[in-house]
Amino acid sequence: MILQMRDICKDYPMGKTVTHVLKNVDLDVSEGDYLAIMGPSGSGKTTLMNLIGCLDVPSSGSYLLGEREITKCSGKELAEIRNKEIGFVFQSFHLLPKLTALDNVALPLLYGGVKKAERQERARAALETVGLADRLDHRPDQLSGGQCQRVAIARAIVGKPRLLLADEPTGALDSASGAQVMELFRQLHDSGSTIIMITHDQGIAHHADTIMTIKDGVLSGGGKDE
Ligand SMILES: Nc1ncnc2c1ncn2[C@@H]1O[C@H](COP(=O)(O)OP(=O)(O)OP(=O)(O)O)[C@@H](O)[C@H]1O
Ligand SMILES: [Mg+2]
Repeated sequence: MILQMRDICKDYPMGKTVTHVLKNVDLDVSEGDYLAIMGPSGSGKTTLMNLIGCLDVPSSGSYLLGEREITKCSGKELAEIRNKEIGFVFQSFHLLPKLTALDNVALPLLYGGVKKAERQERARAALETVGLADRLDHRPDQLSGGQCQRVAIARAIVGKPRLLLADEPTGALDSASGAQVMELFRQLHDSGSTIIMITHDQGIAHHADTIMTIKDGVLSGGGKDE
């Protein structure tokens, strides 16, 4: 088991009332799983992803990631877990505009204390994996949207994380670039990566092995995709 969530709730106090955004969420993910989570806008997808990715902490419930109870970790421990164990891919790429593709991909290794020669070597290898060996020195504004997302995927996998998280990874892409991203995820999955992907798009969700649905903060489903 890579992660186990039990009875996770996330509430936001709003003046005198409280918004219950996630309601008693249970989630089990095993090594090598490829899971898609679907749901309408405002249903709590990003909120859940932020909890899974240790960017935020739940209001109640328990969350085991590997051996660790995340709700008991300090901010510093959570930062370390994010750096070492989780790769993030976002809809809008979140690349640093002034850095080359190579330096964007190497950045998490810099934060992780890896030496320069090894950072560059590993970043180059990750960019090769996503088919961008010939774009190492391009900045984001010199790349297409699909290429930017592939740089972001290289950055997400360069640290060999336990878990790859993607929030609408094809949401900003045309269908051909989206298909390339899905093909990459399939390859990563085939080579053993564990992937959780959020999407609005049924066609995209069907690339995963399992589809779960979130509606009004309630997560359900999880049978094998037929
Ligand atoms: N910081 C916050 N304070 C109060 N309410 C919030 C906060 N963040 C999110 N919400 C509320 O939580 C609900 C879920 O938001 P979330 O961003 O998780 O939705 P989503 O499923 O990702 O939607 P979308 O598909 O539009 O990205 C929304 O109703 C939103 O208004
Ligand atoms: Mg969202």
